[in-house]
Amino acid sequence: MTDTQPLEAPEGGTLLGDDQFSGRRAPGIKPVVTRGGQPAFFSAWDIHAYYGESYIVQGVSFDIREGEIIALLGRNGAGKTSTLRAIARVDDPALRHGEIWLDHKPLHEMKAHEASRFGIGLVPEDRRIIQGLTVEENLKLAQIAPPHGWTIERIYDLFPRLGERRKQEGTTLSGGEQQMLAIGRTLARDVKLLLLDEPYEGLAPVIVQEIERTLEQIKELGMTTVIVEQNAIAALHLADRAIILDMGQVVFDGTAQEVLDNEDLRHEYLAI
Ligand SMILES: Nc1ncnc2c1ncn2[C@@H]1O[C@H](COP(=O)(O)OP(=O)(O)O)[C@@H](O)[C@H]1O
Ligand SMILES: [Mg+2]
Repeated sequence: MTDTQPLEAPEGGTLLGDDQFSGRRAPGIKPVVTRGGQPAFFSAWDIHAYYGESYIVQGVSFDIREGEIIALLGRNGAGKTSTLRAIARVDDPALRHGEIWLDHKPLHEMKAHEASRFGIGLVPEDRRIIQGLTVEENLKLAQIAPPHGWTIERIYDLFPRLGERRKQEGTTLSGGEQQMLAIGRTLARDVKLLLLDEPYEGLAPVIVQEIERTLEQIKELGMTTVIVEQNAIAALHLADRAIILDMGQVVFDGTAQEVLDNEDLRHEYLAI
């Protein structure tokens, strides 16, 4: 039987090799994850996920403290979206190995709707605004069943543009406004872990800044968040910590500042 070793983020943002991961493979064993004596709020433990026979997420482990913002980075095709989807427990990719814990509950044993009810809030890349519904109807639909999160008025306080356009059909909004609606709709549910997949994608710089300011406000409120972004610099300015994926594996786990300061690392894995 493998020891339940504490999964510690390496001090100083070390590049992780296979040898360091092999000691952490602990199938079927509850991770005893601690940092500074505190159990991690979220922990992914050696997760492996497949699309059919395509082996994509290849032993990803990381943990998140409550209130922390993690930038999950890596080149196109590195496995970022697949990792978020595995955490959210959607069927594809299928999680075949590993454990995922959130607030002491085993997400790996849940289906997507259970994970969502428990507090996983995935804002997918394609935003999925529901056609034929107004902004307000999209928000109300998110609250059709408990547990409820923010009130609709509070969401409008955070995104005044959504309040102004409450009667407008959601799919007719600009890209930036649709992103706000996608985030707002997720906050309308009781979210413990917010997963944002490329929230700035395809948006003009001025809109990116607007959404960044909103995410800063959400950060102030202490919402635990994972942000995946091609715009790595923007994500790193928001985040406390960064995890870099390459070919479905974690190659870096350290502070956001370390990535900003390490040009070689950025060249090698982020092409910036
Ligand atoms: N539905 C799918 N079926 C098969 N392979 C997929 C599917 N979605 C993504 N992939 C593959 O998985 C790898 C990781 O993709 P993805 O997680 O979307 O990367 P990222 O979000 O980092 O750009 C890529 O090689 C991609 O081609
Ligand atoms: Mg992606």
